[in-house]
Amino acid sequence: MATVQSKPGPVLRSDYQRSIAAYWNKEKDPVNIRLGEVDGLYHHHYGIGDYDESVLGAGDQAIIEEMHRLETAQADVLLDHLGDIAPSERLMDAGSGRGGTSFMANQRFGCQVDGVSISEQQVDFANDQARQRNVADQVRFHFRNMLDTGFETGAMSGIWTNETTMYVDLQELFGEFSRLLRYGGRYVCITGCYNDVTGGRSRAVSQIDQHYICNIHPRSAYFKALADNGFVPINVVDLTAATIPYWELRARSSVATGIEDPFLTAYKEGSFHYLLIAADRI
Ligand SMILES: C[S@@+](CC[C@H](N)C(=O)[O-])C[C@H]1O[C@@H](n2cnc3c(N)ncnc32)[C@H](O)[C@@H]1O
Repeated sequence: MATVQSKPGPVLRSDYQRSIAAYWNKEKDPVNIRLGEVDGLYHHHYGIGDYDESVLGAGDQAIIEEMHRLETAQADVLLDHLGDIAPSERLMDAGSGRGGTSFMANQRFGCQVDGVSISEQQVDFANDQARQRNVADQVRFHFRNMLDTGFETGAMSGIWTNETTMYVDLQELFGEFSRLLRYGGRYVCITGCYNDVTGGRSRAVSQIDQHYICNIHPRSAYFKALADNGFVPINVVDLTAATIPYWELRARSSVATGIEDPFLTAYKEGSFHYLLIAADRI
């Protein structure tokens, strides 16, 4: 059962967080909704892996289904890095969106999953999905801030962030995760981050920030904040080459949003990485 020990503060603590919540509350972008309708797993993240080129001549729905397959493959790779999780253990999806990765984790491990999001619409949508899937007793979504969740100390065996860290201060975030994870618990992150080696934030990275009202961090900030908060990386995987085909397919799809060119430019010029980091809490 989800037990809450400390009473969290107000969920939305700043005008910035209120603007992020407002963005996700009204978000009904076909690039997310139509893909989710393929099999009921709604993702708000990008895909990895090569696409089947035959979909290009097979019509709009075939492209939608292929993009969805690549987004689900991304979540599978993230979950692979959590390691072995027993049904008695508990996981947290920090910034859970409409819940796609949480349902996949529950299917895979058979354990309790708590998702948190600052969007009440997303939380309601995902809890509705949980009821439809008959897993509402195991997968629960909460209107809470991942910087101050109120869950009890040491309650989680694993935590992940699937494209959510660019909305928050990493020191605050990893401080909260450090509190929530038991000793030896695993944290897995998939994120876009900018490349310290090519210099500061490139124009393309700034365009992505502006589009999503986010603040993409440099690669170095992740490792510093992890080390500062008692996390030791066990795996770092550069997924950049693996995500480029997804963006190329998306650019040719009917659900392109206009942000495809900045992503492709940033990845190809080397100013931006799509990175997976798995780290253990010591
Ligand atoms: C790009 S979506 C990713 C959703 C989900 N992880 C997925 O892969 O489908 C970003 C999510 O982060 C959430 N978010 C942003 N800031 C947050 C915060 N401070 N606390 C909790 N959730 C937050 C948003 O509400 C949204 O659900």
